[in-house]
Amino acid sequence: MKVIFVCLGNICRSPAAEAVFKSLVEKQGLSDKISIDSAGIIGVHSGEKADQRMIRHALDRGYVIDSISRKFNPHNDFSEFDMIIGMDNQNISDLKSSSVNDSDYKKIYRMSQFLSDHYDKEIPDPYYAGNEGFKYVLDLIEDACSGLLEKLKKVL
Ligand code: 4NP
Repeated sequence: MKVIFVCLGNICRSPAAEAVFKSLVEKQGLSDKISIDSAGIIGVHSGEKADQRMIRHALDRGYVIDSISRKFNPHNDFSEFDMIIGMDNQNISDLKSSSVNDSDYKKIYRMSQFLSDHYDKEIPDPYYAGNEGFKYVLDLIEDACSGLLEKLKKVL
């Protein structure tokens, strides 16, 4: 099972989701069954480390974010991955626009659909939201990653 998390810049939300999900999957001994990546809709931060604020807040909870930003590549990534998980409405809309067939389209998921303790429809962009914004994004990501793993464990 190959999962990729997608946000706009691939320096805040999707790298955090990648690190949190990797940590959960490792703890449950499923690393050989689930591979995990992240990417951004835009490539302006390609080649950069994640946002320092995101790295710091994730580390406060024990997650190491070490990914390097890259742009989502519709041509390769739709065929490479089984689940393509967008963080907000715009990400979902952009992913759908770049899908070219039904099979691609059906791989697109919304991160919020895996939430169980929160009722938000989107994982909001924390870029201008201050410390509380980053903490809240991590709350949502931890919740959704647990839900996603429970779902995957039923089909693995
Ligand atoms: P992310 O946050 O999509 O969670 O990585 C953003 C980071 C940078 C930009 C947009 C969103 N930006 O436009 O530079």
